[in-house]
Amino acid sequence: MINVAVIGLGYWGPNLVRNFEAVDNAKVIYACDLLEENLMKIKKRYPNIKVTKDYKEILKDDKVDLICIATPPATHYKIAKECLESGKNVLIEKPMTTKVKDAEELIEIAKELNLYIFVDHTFVFSPPVRKIKEIINEIGKPLYFDSERINLGLLQKDVNVIWDLAPHDFSILTFLFNFKPKSLIAIGSKHKHPYYEDLAHIMIRYDNGFIAHIHVSWLSPVKIRKIIIAGDKKMILYDDTNPFEKVKVYDKGVEVDLSKESPFFPTYRSGDIYVPKIENKEPLRIEVEHIVDCLINKKKPLVDGYEGLKVVKLLEACDKSLREGKEVEIEW
Ligand SMILES: NC(=O)c1ccc[n+]([C@@H]2O[C@H](COP(=O)([O-])OP(=O)(O)OC[C@H]3O[C@@H](n4cnc5c(N)ncnc54)[C@H](O)[C@@H]3O)[C@@H](O)[C@H]2O)c1
Repeated sequence: MINVAVIGLGYWGPNLVRNFEAVDNAKVIYACDLLEENLMKIKKRYPNIKVTKDYKEILKDDKVDLICIATPPATHYKIAKECLESGKNVLIEKPMTTKVKDAEELIEIAKELNLYIFVDHTFVFSPPVRKIKEIINEIGKPLYFDSERINLGLLQKDVNVIWDLAPHDFSILTFLFNFKPKSLIAIGSKHKHPYYEDLAHIMIRYDNGFIAHIHVSWLSPVKIRKIIIAGDKKMILYDDTNPFEKVKVYDKGVEVDLSKESPFFPTYRSGDIYVPKIENKEPLRIEVEHIVDCLINKKKPLVDGYEGLKVVKLLEACDKSLREGKEVEIEW
């Protein structure tokens, strides 16, 4: 039995409590938050879970195997470091840390102490993304990834819209493609937020010519979660707000054969469209089952500290680009 503690019971933490309580071979024994009202909500629903305002109490308890850190991003490094140094495995919410060097340090500590770092890149466990990974070779040579992740709010207190929303796209990109990002440019605006960008466009160049564009915004009148992944053979549309047809595969493309035609004369291919069958299961449930399996059977996690670090590297490069107002190199 894996004994779990969850620190941070705001919006996301209760989802972790619910899922770890629901799966086999795990139970939540502590829940922690600074706010009494958040503790009371958990206590009312799960009377057997001990609640506390002080996470250090959890660190002292030998029975705890895994600590989930669902506090604001700026606190992840400090809390995760203390957890690891107390001999606890950790599940850290996205983004893993707010600095590359902090993520690197956590990886080193975990390695030395032989502990697991899991990072909650929930989309990696979502059935549509897993289906796309399964069929990705059908698209032929990957050409581009174009994502729109926009809605009205929720403006965050301590991070910009890139740190809030783009980790999802970055984790999907690194899960689907093992390409090396070369440089990126981020353009953003602070239209409503007094301190942080509330709208941004990010363009990433990869060393093989692949290009990714990500539009994130807290200022959109409608919620859109659409990604197009195009290859030279087929193209995939992933619409996460569509309840029934989240993934569609289009047999569409453009051929340009300069040897045959002069001047330039492209031909367009428009074939079948199909909708793959996708399992209907909560991504976080799949993820939590995977984490428990890794801990019990000593398996390698799908999203470990190194995967978390990749996302933080892209986020840090976005900050640099916003600051300098130009395209910046990515250290990979
Ligand atoms: N994986 C996902 O899909 C997903 C979705 C939403 C949020 N998140 C991530 O989860 C984390 C939390 O986000 P949220 O939206 O739930 O934020 P939130 O502000 O709603 O909740 C954070 C909670 O942490 C508590 N907290 C802060 N410092 C603490 C401390 N030292 N000890 C105990 N509790 C403390 C706060 O009181 C608050 O209740 C963020 O990293 C966010 O990016 C992930």
